[in-house]
Amino acid sequence: MDHFLYKNGALHAEDVAISEIAASVGTPFYVYSTATFQRHFKVFEEALAGMDHLICYAMKANSNMAVLKTLAAMGAGMDVVSMGEYLRAKAAGVSGDKIVFSGVGKTREEMRVALTGGIRQFNVESEPEMRLLNEVALDLGVVAPITVRVNPDVDAKTHAKIATGKSENKFGIPIAKARAVYAEAAAMEGIEVVGIDVHIGSQLTDLEPYRLAYQKVAELTAELRADGHNIRRLDLGGGLGIPYARSNEAPPLPMDYGQVIRETLGDLECEIEIEPGRLIAGNSGILVTSVIYNKEGEGRDFLIVDAAMNDLIRPAMYEAHHDIIPVIEPALGVEPAPVDIVGPVCESGDTFAKQRDMPAVQDGEMIAFRSAGAYGAVMASEYNSRPLIPEVMVKDDQFAVIRARPTIDEMINRDTLPEWL
Ligand code: LLP
Repeated sequence: MDHFLYKNGALHAEDVAISEIAASVGTPFYVYSTATFQRHFKVFEEALAGMDHLICYAMKANSNMAVLKTLAAMGAGMDVVSMGEYLRAKAAGVSGDKIVFSGVGKTREEMRVALTGGIRQFNVESEPEMRLLNEVALDLGVVAPITVRVNPDVDAKTHAKIATGKSENKFGIPIAKARAVYAEAAAMEGIEVVGIDVHIGSQLTDLEPYRLAYQKVAELTAELRADGHNIRRLDLGGGLGIPYARSNEAPPLPMDYGQVIRETLGDLECEIEIEPGRLIAGNSGILVTSVIYNKEGEGRDFLIVDAAMNDLIRPAMYEAHHDIIPVIEPALGVEPAPVDIVGPVCESGDTFAKQRDMPAVQDGEMIAFRSAGAYGAVMASEYNSRPLIPEVMVKDDQFAVIRARPTIDEMINRDTLPEWL
């Protein structure tokens, strides 16, 4: 459920008409709904109720400061994967003891910054990383709390580019090797083992891979405890999918996901952490764009819009489907017709949808890409010297620009010339 609905024939974000925002900031733009972010966070809270837990929002999905502050105010922790994300989380007021640090390539500098500023735990992904972390911690005279991310060799049944839990992926330590790695960790003075971490992929639409992975984590917990390790925290990653196409079967609900956690790990007396990103942010945002031209091609028609692959890369990169709706509600009985919806960038890959059934939309009118709140703005680039598009946050009947569109002059002036030019 989200808060992007038609009211009086016009698309609204909560109680604000999209046309009002467009008149103020111009298209294209992202718009987010505070109530939807809050609702999705609450749904996870309810799913884990009764278990000792912390929801660490995977801020890679959408790291705008206004988004982070909205979630932090509800008690969210953060899952970060870079120094930039760590410092953003801190700037949003999240305390270090609610920040977990994931990622396969943490650098010495990133470790130093997080150990100095405070960290709940590092999710360690390799032996060399663990050895470096030990060294950095000893240098600083502190102890680094860690989990080891194990790779359970489970097929997440998602798009190959976002599956992470198979042995061929670069992530984690093979679960069969875990006991040896924990033994090495126990001998390191700068390292304190606090638990186990697992994350098998993103946009999962089936709970079975989770069940399989979490059963393996339960077995490993018992083995590691028998080896003398104090396993008290389980980080179960993120990845729960969202309904990108409302016409298809909906993915499992967070409540059912919570039930899988309860059944597989509920009696281990561990603190549970999860790292959802997409399910919190995805349907909390839309991308609004204007039609520049209706172009008749040979055998197919095109809607050329003012947003492009540099603003929302998911269709080009993962063949992702986003529902697309007109901002003016189509009249009842209007027959949709197939069109290709494309951006202005000079690549054929700059295609948002092929042969999508759409009601007629005139030049100058707006359409909206749904489910664009996660992995939208954060993956944007300035390709073709197109400025990053503004982000707007709505709360009830108010809206605010939470990242402004840079001017072309600002973009030009970011470059510096060598003295010989
Ligand atoms: N934890 C870890 C360690 C992750 O690598 C990820 C996502 C998450 C949590 C959050 O997963 P989520 O709940 O958002 O599925 N750009 C791609 C998605 C990449 C996901 C990368 N890791 C897309 O647009 O589909």
